Amino acid sequence: MMIVQWATAIAACLSFTSGESSQQVPLLAAIAPDLSPLPLAQDNTQRILPTLVPQVDAAPSLTPTLFDPTAPDAQKCPGYKASGVTESDSGFTAALTIAGDNCQAYGNDIADLVLEVSYQAKERVNVRIYPKYIVPANQTQYLLSPQLVDQPEWDGKTTKSSSDLELTWINDPSFQFKITRSSDGEELFSTYGHVIVYEDQFLELVTNMIDEYKVYGLAENAHDFLLGNDYNQTYWAVDAGNSIDYNSYGTYPWYQETRYRNGKPSTAHGVYARNAHGQEWLLRKNTITYRTLGGSFDFYFLSGQNNDGSSSAVTTIAQYVSGCIGLPAMHQYWTFGFHQCRWGYQNISVMQSIVKGYKDANIPLELYRDFTNDKVTFPVEGMREFIGSLHANGQHYVPIVDSNVYAPNPDNASDAYEPWTRANEQGLFIRDPTTGEPYLGGNWPGFSSWGDWLLPATHVWWAEELAKWHNDTPFDGIWIDLSEASNFCDGSCGNGRLNENPVHPPFLLPNDPLQMNFNYPLGFNISNATEAAAVSSASAVQASILSHTTQLPVPTTITLGRIEPTPGVRNVSFPPYVINNVQNGHALGKGAISPDATHNDQYNTTEYELHNLFGYSISNATYHAILQIFPGVRPFTVGRSTFAGSGKTTGHWGGDNTSTWGSMFLSISQALTFMMNGAPMFGADTCGFSGNTDFDLCSRWMELSAFFPFYRNHNIKASIDQEAFRWSSVAEASRRVMQVRYSMLTYMYTLFYYAATEGQTVMRALSWEFPNDPSLAGTYSQFMLGPSILVTPVLVPNVDYVKGVFPGVGEGTKWYDWYTLQPVSAKPQENVTLSAPLEHINVHVRGGSIIALQTPGYTTDETRASPYSLLIALDSNEAASGSLYLDDGVSLVQNATKLVKFEYSNSILKTSIQGSYHAAPPLSKVTIAGASCLPKSLSLTISGQPFEAAEIDVVYSGGVVTITGLEKFTPNGAWEGEAEMKLKF
Ligand SMILES: *[C@@H]1O[C@H](CO)[C@@H](O)[C@H](O)[C@H]1NC(C)=O
Ligand SMILES: *[C@@H]1O[C@H](CO)[C@@H](O)[C@H](O)[C@H]1NC(C)=O
Repeated sequence: MMIVQWATAIAACLSFTSGESSQQVPLLAAIAPDLSPLPLAQDNTQRILPTLVPQVDAAPSLTPTLFDPTAPDAQKCPGYKASGVTESDSGFTAALTIAGDNCQAYGNDIADLVLEVSYQAKERVNVRIYPKYIVPANQTQYLLSPQLVDQPEWDGKTTKSSSDLELTWINDPSFQFKITRSSDGEELFSTYGHVIVYEDQFLELVTNMIDEYKVYGLAENAHDFLLGNDYNQTYWAVDAGNSIDYNSYGTYPWYQETRYRNGKPSTAHGVYARNAHGQEWLLRKNTITYRTLGGSFDFYFLSGQNNDGSSSAVTTIAQYVSGCIGLPAMHQYWTFGFHQCRWGYQNISVMQSIVKGYKDANIPLELYRDFTNDKVTFPVEGMREFIGSLHANGQHYVPIVDSNVYAPNPDNASDAYEPWTRANEQGLFIRDPTTGEPYLGGNWPGFSSWGDWLLPATHVWWAEELAKWHNDTPFDGIWIDLSEASNFCDGSCGNGRLNENPVHPPFLLPNDPLQMNFNYPLGFNISNATEAAAVSSASAVQASILSHTTQLPVPTTITLGRIEPTPGVRNVSFPPYVINNVQNGHALGKGAISPDATHNDQYNTTEYELHNLFGYSISNATYHAILQIFPGVRPFTVGRSTFAGSGKTTGHWGGDNTSTWGSMFLSISQALTFMMNGAPMFGADTCGFSGNTDFDLCSRWMELSAFFPFYRNHNIKASIDQEAFRWSSVAEASRRVMQVRYSMLTYMYTLFYYAATEGQTVMRALSWEFPNDPSLAGTYSQFMLGPSILVTPVLVPNVDYVKGVFPGVGEGTKWYDWYTLQPVSAKPQENVTLSAPLEHINVHVRGGSIIALQTPGYTTDETRASPYSLLIALDSNEAASGSLYLDDGVSLVQNATKLVKFEYSNSILKTSIQGSYHAAPPLSKVTIAGASCLPKSLSLTISGQPFEAAEIDVVYSGGVVTITGLEKFTPNGAWEGEAEMKLKF
C-alpha cells in the first residue's frame, strides 16, 4: 500500500486559513433588465365569432347536498344488526340485516349485507361490506372488479393474533366496529356512535377522530398538505384547472394520519377505501364522514408499524403502495431530463427554433412536445427528420394524445378519420343508451367518441393506432390528456349532427378574437411597472370592445330541486345525493360523458360506475401499446386523470394550473400527495399553464420544479412565451439549477429504484423525515428530495431572501449548503433567513449522507456517461452512508443491475457492491464536507488490491476535503470492485 504524494494538499491547507470556499459559484451581480414580453396588440374593433356548437341539453343546476339545508340526515337511518358470525383462518364473516324500516335517504336501502373481516397481512386488516344478493343484470350494485383495480387479499398466514391490528365490534343499538393497534391499544378508526347506511346510490360511514387530528392525502386536490379539520374532498374526475378545494382530475381515496404525543415518538396509520364511484370525504372537528354514490365498503386499515413496534408515515405509505395498489413503474433514465412543451407551436420550424433557443442559451433540453400532428404544418417527412435530429442529439419527443376520438363527417369524404371508423366497425366505443350508437360528445376537434376500455378489443385497436402513428412520427412516449374523460358539451350532443363536423368547441378559445389573457402574476406591477400599465390599458380596451360586440349566447339551465329517491329505481343521471362537483350546476354529466352512457360488457355497465376509471384505463392501455412498439423497454406515458394504482403504468402532471405564485406553492403539496399515491413521476406545468408568467415567477418556478421528478415547462396559447431562454434571469436560474439537478440525476434515479421496489417516497415532506417535531406537521414550503436533500424555494414575488427551518438540529442533525458545503448554524425551529438572489435556489445536504453525483452534461445521455464523484456529508459522529442504483436505464426487465452501498465511519470509506451491471464512467472525485482538517495520509484498495497513487490531489479548505485524480484507479468503471479508502487525520 502506497501513501500518495501531498504537495498540492499542503498548499491547499494554507488556503484553508484564509477561510475561503473554492466551491462558491459567484451570483450575478446584476441581471440584465428582464421585461416580460407584452401580449399581442389588440386592434379588433369588431370581431367575427366562430360558429359555436349550441349547448344541447344544458345540464340542470343542482344544489350540492352538502349545502342543502333540506337534505335528510342519513344518520337517522336504522343501521344494521350482525348475526351468523362464522370464524375463518383469516378473520370472520357475518350477515348484516337492516335494523328497522327502509329510510330511503338518498336511494333504496339494501336490507341484506355481508360483512367480511380479514387479517390480510400483519400490517393490514380488511373490512368489506357488500350486498348479499347482487343482480348484475339489473345493475343493483356495481362492485369494483379486481381485474380493473387491484384488490388486496389475505396472505394465507396472518391471523387475528399475529396481526398488528384488531377489530372489535358491538351490535347495540346497531352494528359498529373499531380498529385498534394491538401493541398499544390505540384506537385508529371507530364507527361507534354512528350507523352504517347502505343504499343503492348512497353509502355512508362515519369514524370518530381525535382532537385536532392530522390527516394527509385524499388526493387529487389543490389544498394545504395537512388537510385540516374542516375540509370536503369530492371525487368525480373533472377537467377543471386549478380547482382549489374541489374535485380534481384523479381519485386516490386514502389518507394517512399522524399523531404527535407530547415528547413521545409520534404514531401513524392509514386508511384506504377501495371504491371508484363519485364520493365525498367530509373532515369535521371530531369525525370523518365517508359517502359514496354506490359500490361497496372495502376498507384497508394499515398499521404503519415497524419491526421495533414504532409506527411512521413513511412505513404507512410503503404499506399502502406495496400492499394495496402496487409499486410504481421504474422510468427510463432520459425521462428525468427537462421537458419543454406548448399548446400551439405552429410548425416544425418553430419547434426547431425552440430547440435551438435552448441550445444557444446552454439550457439542457431533453424533450419536446406539441399539440397536434396536422399533416399540413407537420408533414410526415418533416416530422421524421425533426425527430431524427432530436434523437441524434440524445433528445426525445413525446406528443400529446387526447382521450376523445374525432368522429368524421359522413357527408364529406375528405374528412375521413380511419381510427374512429375502425373502432366503430368493431363496436369499441362507449354508447349512447338512447340510440345504441357510439356516444357523440364534443371536444377540441369536434364531435367525438370515447373508447370502451372494458373490451379487450379496444386495447388491441388502440395499440394498433399508436403503432401506425409511430411509423410516421417516431415518438418516444405518449402524453394522454383530457382523460377525465372531458366532454365539452352536455350529453351526446353530436347525435344526428355529424354532418356539421368539424365543429368549433362550444366556447371561445384562447386565440379567438378578443380572448387575450391579460393576467400577470402578483408583483408584476413592481418588477415591470411600465409594462403593467400598458397591460392594464390593453385589457381595458379589450373589455370595452367586448362590451360593444355580439355577446355569446348564454345557455339556459333549469334548476332541479332536491331529487327524492324513487323506490326501486336508480337515477344515475341525477342521483338523489348531489356531490359538490366543481362544474357549474354540479351535475355529474356536466363537462363529462353522461353517467348513463353505457359500456359494452354483458351488464351494460354505465359511466356512473366507471367515470373515475377512464383515465386510469386509457393510461394502462397506452402503457401496453407503447410496450408493443418498443418491446422490452419501460413505456413512458403521463396521464391527466389517474386512480389509485396508476403509478404502476403512468406519470402525472398537475394539470392546467395558472401562472400564479399560489399555483406554484400548491404544486408542492400536490407533489407530496402523489408521492403518497405510489405515483412519483409527478411534476407541475412550470412557469404556469394559463395566464402570463413573468421573469420573477418563471425563474423561481424553474428552480423549484428542478427537484420534482417530472420537470416540464408548459404553456397555453395566446399568452406570452415562457421558454426558459426568453429572459436572461430565467435562463441563468435554469442553467444553474439544471446543473444541480443533472449532477444528482443518478441520486433521483436511485430514489426511484427504492420507490419501485419498496414503496419509498421520492420527494418527501419534512414531517416524514422528522416525525417527532410537531412544528413540521403542516410544512410544505420546504421539502426534501429523498433522505438527503432539503429544498427551500422562494414562493413569493420580488424578494432576494427566503426563510426556512433546519429540521433535526436540536437532535444533532447537521446541514450543509449544497453550493459551498459550509455547515448551517440554526437553532431548533428557528426560521433562518437565507440569501436567495433571483438565480439561486437554496439546497442543503443532510449530514450523514453519501450521494453519488455525475458531471452534468447537456442531456441525460451525456450526464450518464460522465465521471462520478461522491459527496460525503458528515453527521455529528463524523459518519455517513448512502447508496447508488445502476442499470441500463431503459429495459423493463434488466439483464444486470448494481446496487452500490457506501459507508463512511472512523475516517474509512467503504463501498460494497451487489449485482454485475457495468457502468463505464470512472470515479473522479470524493468530497467530504464537515471535516476538521487536511488528512495526513490516504490509502486506497479496490477489490482487495492496494493502489499506488502518485498524483492524487487532496485539498482541504473551509471544512471540505476534496480528493481528485481518482479516475486512474477506476478506468474500467467506478463501481467494478469493492473499495476501501482510509484517511488519517
Ligand atoms: C330485474 O328487474 C326486473 C324488474 O324489476 C325483474 O323483473 C327481473 O326479474 C330482474 N332480473 C333479475 C335477474 O333479477
Ligand atoms: C365543507 O362543507 C360544509 C358543509 O357541510 C361547509 O360548511 C364548509 O364550509 C365546507 N368546508 C370547506 C373548507 O369548504
